[in-house]
Amino acid sequence: MIENFKGKHILHGNQFSKEDLDKVMHVADEFEKGLKNGKTYDLMRGKVLAALFFEPSTRTRLSFESAMLRLGGGVISVASAATSSAAKGESVGDTALTVSQYADVIVMRHPQIGSAAEAAEVATIPVINAGDGAGQHPTQALLDVYTIKKEIDKLDGIQVSLVGDLKYGRTVHALVELLSLYDIGLRLVSPASLKMPADMVSNLKEKGVEVTETEDLLEAVSDSDLVYVTRIQKERFSDVAEYEKLKGSYVIDNAMLQKAKEGIVIMHPLPRVDEIATEVDSYKGAAYFRQVRNGVFVRMALLAMVSGLK
Ligand code: NCD
Repeated sequence: MIENFKGKHILHGNQFSKEDLDKVMHVADEFEKGLKNGKTYDLMRGKVLAALFFEPSTRTRLSFESAMLRLGGGVISVASAATSSAAKGESVGDTALTVSQYADVIVMRHPQIGSAAEAAEVATIPVINAGDGAGQHPTQALLDVYTIKKEIDKLDGIQVSLVGDLKYGRTVHALVELLSLYDIGLRLVSPASLKMPADMVSNLKEKGVEVTETEDLLEAVSDSDLVYVTRIQKERFSDVAEYEKLKGSYVIDNAMLQKAKEGIVIMHPLPRVDEIATEVDSYKGAAYFRQVRNGVFVRMALLAMVSGLK
């Protein structure tokens, strides 16, 4: 439970209570409405965000940067490990301590699980985890919940299917933590070798979430209110042949959607490779580009909240 966000690190989906989520959603909604009405903000004027991305990113980095700029703040960034002193062997801790001298908030993506927590241990400013290897991606999960609220209007009572790489996918690892706060039915759909780690599944069951596991995407699509599709995380495989075998296991296309439950919503953290055919983009329940946009509002909320300005 976070309660007062000021000065807090955002590292893991398990940090949040339902009240915390309500607070983030409320502030994000306020920013969404403000921007829609042409409002400009100077809430974070004079403040600097350091965006440290030691792994590829399009949406997470740019939406955080956009969020900071829309709040009137400034941004400094490292866009790849190769151009920073990480390439010289500098530790995450030393990097975090250094950047603490330059900025007011750190957003960090790094290939190692636990790296954001490691940075947070020594940083003197809030650290926001933008993805730590196959670990967690809490800000994506927050914008996912915001999107579900906007698209379906409620979380309690809905059937959710998470599809794809549930073993390495950090977005789903964080999302299930947030979903477990609600009364939802959860179906985990993956090839046998990419199942969600057993400790995560038993943790969900202990929290009272109704979880079922299946390899059958069609069955899931036919009775889910929400299907959340993920990319097979190629970069986490030590054996490329194994990836090639699994690639293309699940594809959602218009033909499949003919069997879908009425009103189904389809989400994806993106980038997609081949999991959702582009013909689906014009389907009314295809929410993934609206989901992208929501990232800015939610990240504006988080930046303002950890800075004690909301
Ligand atoms: C995801 C990530 O980086 O974990 N992307 C994102 O942040 N929206 C998903 C992915 O890379 O498959």
